[in-house]
Amino acid sequence: METDTDFTISHTLIHWYHSNKRELPWRDTADPYIIWISEVILQQTRVDQGMGYFLRFTERFPDLSTLAEAEEDETLKYWQGLGYYSRARNMLAAARTIADSFGGVFPSRYEDILSLKGVGEYTAAAIASFAWNQPYPVVDGNVYRVLARLFAIDTPVNSFKGKKTFARIAALLMNPEKAGLHNQAMMEFGALQCVPRNPDCTPCPLSHQCMAYASGSVASFPVKPKKTSVRNRYFHYLHIVHEGDTWINRRSGNDIWKGLYEFPLLETEEAVDFAGLQKTEEFRRLLKDTGIRSVSIELQNVKHILSHQALYATFYKIEIEKGNEALESFVRIPCGSIGEYAVPRLVDIYLEKSGRKVAR
Ligand code: ADE
Repeated sequence: METDTDFTISHTLIHWYHSNKRELPWRDTADPYIIWISEVILQQTRVDQGMGYFLRFTERFPDLSTLAEAEEDETLKYWQGLGYYSRARNMLAAARTIADSFGGVFPSRYEDILSLKGVGEYTAAAIASFAWNQPYPVVDGNVYRVLARLFAIDTPVNSFKGKKTFARIAALLMNPEKAGLHNQAMMEFGALQCVPRNPDCTPCPLSHQCMAYASGSVASFPVKPKKTSVRNRYFHYLHIVHEGDTWINRRSGNDIWKGLYEFPLLETEEAVDFAGLQKTEEFRRLLKDTGIRSVSIELQNVKHILSHQALYATFYKIEIEKGNEALESFVRIPCGSIGEYAVPRLVDIYLEKSGRKVAR
């Protein structure tokens, strides 16, 4: 790539941005807290879906000190459905770090921002450039796509070499005096104009500079990341009912959904039916001497995709005559109050389907 010494690409992007940008509530603010929240949400989800989460979250936790004082369970409740719950936990931890170690003031040094729990290079660059116009280029999926097409870069974006190449080019293109605007413009351009599928290049202000466009190969860029393998897991949820109560568990340990609640869960290496499940030691232990009255399959083999895992989940409703010692390690709650707990999306789907969901 030739060096864009007078920042013509940046200039074109910013010009395009002024006439095409969406009005979004986290734009036109220099509050690093608001920018941070929006960026973490937008790493999870698209703008249209993330908007509701952003508005609800910032209404309940409008500033750093409110978040720093919040209970983890409540923050998870506001995050419910977004996935990647570790991000919500990390945000709470970071807010507490800022309260304890930075005098409650959001740090403005890039290295300090980067040191916060859950904040990576992308988010640190977004906060530093949007809030303080510091010259750190953001490099996310949108930026990868724009750069890969503009310069016909065929290095896979998730490779070590790819990451370095794209970061270097992103830094070269950025006009350091307009870092915040440049970054916003680049991302918005990727989101609205240089879209992943079937972009309409006719109105594109960069088409005459675009190497992929010149060679008629826009659709070939960016080069797809190498596929990562997916792990299959088989979940069997036991919605155990006794006198209008049920049992739930708060997930812990180094696994998905830490801190969220769910029904007692049995996991198997392979798909098994109820007969197979009954034979497992864990099932026997959990339901020993409970006097099973009835078992019904409420949802069977629902596929739930996470980033590196495919979950196959079955929900059993089991009515029992009495509790036992094994169930005492769970939290016993009235069936109607399950809606008050933060649950994984998968459990929420079950609650919605079975009409047991209680309004939040
Ligand atoms: N995606 C990630 N960050 C964004 C932002 N600040 N505005 C719009 N879309 C985004």
